[in-house]
Amino acid sequence: MNLEDQLRGDQSGAGSARLSERLQVEEQESAPLLEETRRLSGVSDPYGPLKTHVQRAVIPKLGPWLFSNQESPDLRREVDESVARELDASGTPLAAVDRERLIEEITADILGYGPLERFLADDTVTEVMVNGFDRIFVEREGKIEPTDASFVDDDHLQRIIDKIVSRVGRRVDERSPMVDARLPDGSRVNAIIPPLSLGGPTLTIRKFARDPYTIENLIDFGSLTPKAAHFLQSCVEGKLNVLISGGTGTGKTTLLNALSASIPNDERIITIEDAAELQLQQGHVIRLESRPSNIEGEGEVRIRELVRNALRMRPDRIVVGEVRGAETLDMLQAMNTGHEGSLTTIHANSPRDALNRLETLVLMSGLEMPLHAIREQISSALDLVVHISRLVDGSRRISQVTEVLGMESEVITLQDVFLARPVSDRASAQSSPSFLRPLECTGLQPHFQHKLAGHGVILSEDFYQPKLHAVPANGSSR
Ligand SMILES: Nc1ncnc2c1ncn2[C@@H]1O[C@H](COP(=O)(O)OP(=O)(O)O)[C@@H](O)[C@H]1O
Ligand SMILES: [Mg+2]
Repeated sequence: MNLEDQLRGDQSGAGSARLSERLQVEEQESAPLLEETRRLSGVSDPYGPLKTHVQRAVIPKLGPWLFSNQESPDLRREVDESVARELDASGTPLAAVDRERLIEEITADILGYGPLERFLADDTVTEVMVNGFDRIFVEREGKIEPTDASFVDDDHLQRIIDKIVSRVGRRVDERSPMVDARLPDGSRVNAIIPPLSLGGPTLTIRKFARDPYTIENLIDFGSLTPKAAHFLQSCVEGKLNVLISGGTGTGKTTLLNALSASIPNDERIITIEDAAELQLQQGHVIRLESRPSNIEGEGEVRIRELVRNALRMRPDRIVVGEVRGAETLDMLQAMNTGHEGSLTTIHANSPRDALNRLETLVLMSGLEMPLHAIREQISSALDLVVHISRLVDGSRRISQVTEVLGMESEVITLQDVFLARPVSDRASAQSSPSFLRPLECTGLQPHFQHKLAGHGVILSEDFYQPKLHAVPANGSSR
């Protein structure tokens, strides 16, 4: 179907018919950008390339002013004028009505997020996924659902991506087709475009939770039991080194944030992240964030450098958002050299897998170190692995709370302190859609009790008896 058929078939009626006539008239004049428009006759917005051209000219000219004056009443007027100037400078012949409409649409793209706007404003949406200009999905309560929202075409989507990443001084194009950025509210954005993404520009937005979940919220969701929560809080208070493991989106960062609330207020905490998500409420928090390299490939600061730097900042605790590279070794060394009570997360399928991943990450850091020594490091650094699973119904559940014991010949031994066992009989499987029973003590006494006691945290011996759901009154004292 060519552009004209498409315009005739378009339901928006008069405006499009006029546009179609104009395109015919202008065929002889054929300004270069309209040439491009005709070439891309499969595209549903004939002015797409022109809009992209104008937006790309306007944003760098307004520069930082655009992003530091988001609330300014002059913002719209300023952008409007700038768009009009660039549009006229492009030399494209336009009827007055089309010119007005184009200015309005380009300004809206520069100031807003097009069809994504309503999902960004909607607090029940936790993730926005754009698989293609007309395929937009959102996540609500852990479930992915399709939406009827749509961009006009690939160009339109690309313009919104451009606008988002221009805020961090980046640009997506064939030279750098993958970009991470952030919205002003802190939401995390990833964009990837052709040729890497085969189905057109793709955008994923992990929305920033304005009010991060507290441990009480997680209990209400059924992610863990009050008793397990009390135990984990005691472990954080008692300065154990804790690793939270789980798949993507299982709630590792959320749990890390909720548990960090148990760090006493008088301790100096340094948080290190790729994209600052943690929201600690303590008075003495220093937040560090890594930096990707710029377009020229310079200026990168990795998590590893930040961890090393943090050690020189007299931290009581180091909280690393996620270990996924060379920083793993530094983190383990920090844990082993008196920075107790450090917390981090890792992408893994089970506590055992988490340890294997740590091993791989240490090996990847290029250090020549025998496997045995690496395992020694890991087992003496870590006290506890907390594993989260995402179940078929979308719920997130802590399924294992596992103590890291020492080495036994070549293997690190683990012992579960809390376990959520699978539902075994059919009747309860039907009443409990998640197929996992609540977390329960396994009855095994953790070996780190003396370490906890050293920090004034004492849990009574019968705390670890299975089937005792109530939190004992004499649970913890400091
Ligand atoms: N226990 C939970 N129950 C329901 N939703 C949760 C829970 N924990 C986290 N979430 C939601 O899941 C999404 C991913 O959480 P996040 O902590 O960023 O995951 P991860 O760090 O494992 O990738 C967020 O939108 C968060 O609000
Ligand atoms: Mg995370």
